[in-house]
Amino acid sequence: VSDKLQSRLSVRVEQILNIAVGIKQLRLRRADGGQLPAAPAGSHIDVQLPNGLRRSYSLITPETCQTHYDIAVARDPASRGGSAWVHDYLMAGALLEISTPRNNFPLHNGPAPAVLIAGGIGITPIWAMVQSLVAQGRSWRLHYACRSRERAAFLEVLHAAASASGGDVQAWWDDEHGGRPLDVADVVSHAPSDAHLYCCGPAPMLDAFLRATEAWPRDRVHIERFQASDAPMPSNGLSTFKVELVRTGRVIDVPEGSTILEACMINGIDVPYSCCEGLCGTCETRVLAGIPDHRDSLLTERAKQANDTIIICCSGSKTPLLVLDL
Ligand code: FES
Repeated sequence: VSDKLQSRLSVRVEQILNIAVGIKQLRLRRADGGQLPAAPAGSHIDVQLPNGLRRSYSLITPETCQTHYDIAVARDPASRGGSAWVHDYLMAGALLEISTPRNNFPLHNGPAPAVLIAGGIGITPIWAMVQSLVAQGRSWRLHYACRSRERAAFLEVLHAAASASGGDVQAWWDDEHGGRPLDVADVVSHAPSDAHLYCCGPAPMLDAFLRATEAWPRDRVHIERFQASDAPMPSNGLSTFKVELVRTGRVIDVPEGSTILEACMINGIDVPYSCCEGLCGTCETRVLAGIPDHRDSLLTERAKQANDTIIICCSGSKTPLLVLDL
């Protein structure tokens, strides 16, 4: 929550490249020519698109790069105007507003090996991690799954990184296995017992990963979602409750069918948000009293049980009153 009030930066799209079927890579530089904040592997930025939508994208540039940020955008067939707009309308030279980076998916410290599992465009934070692991001379293995080989971005640089560093890239193309997805449980069962496990990919892959890692220590299991879980997230079925905003002393109603974020906006209270799906963490808010009804895909089980923070774009309340640090 400490970096909840992320500042905004104006950037220019310097270059757009087609790097795989359905994937464009964007290079962003500060419009005023200044340096960008350093961003450790796993970080993402929110991008404000000129069509009014905001989307989160993982940075693929190494932490040491402060001259530009690279992101990759996959065209989502179910796009509600985010990725489709980038693919169809965004041109080099355009100005965009972005947030400063935030990191919900940091790499562990120490010598334990990293086992990385990426599905589709979930390779973006994982590629940043590989670069960091190589730079630090640490042990890693990547399992990279895509629907087909031509949809796989960064394949050559990943293989080059593996041969230069003693890492390992195991590729899995669904269409070469009769459409069968990567067996994530099998990957997990063969991971070294002291490994840290990382997964970023579509919801079915992440759900399989969480099932396969149930017996692992939670602090060695790391996920990043870019799609809401397949599990239902009934964000508009919340019962009425009240929220006290301690910074202003106001108490507002959250009517049935609304989220706390929507209630704040209706009441003219400015709070940061981006995805509105419980994925990016931008709206994470400290809970001072009351018990949240967590419905996000972001907080760990431990964080949910601690009830210290709430993702206000989708979670509700189990108590008639929630007191929030807003
Ligand atoms: S706005 Fe993205 S998690 Fe709430």
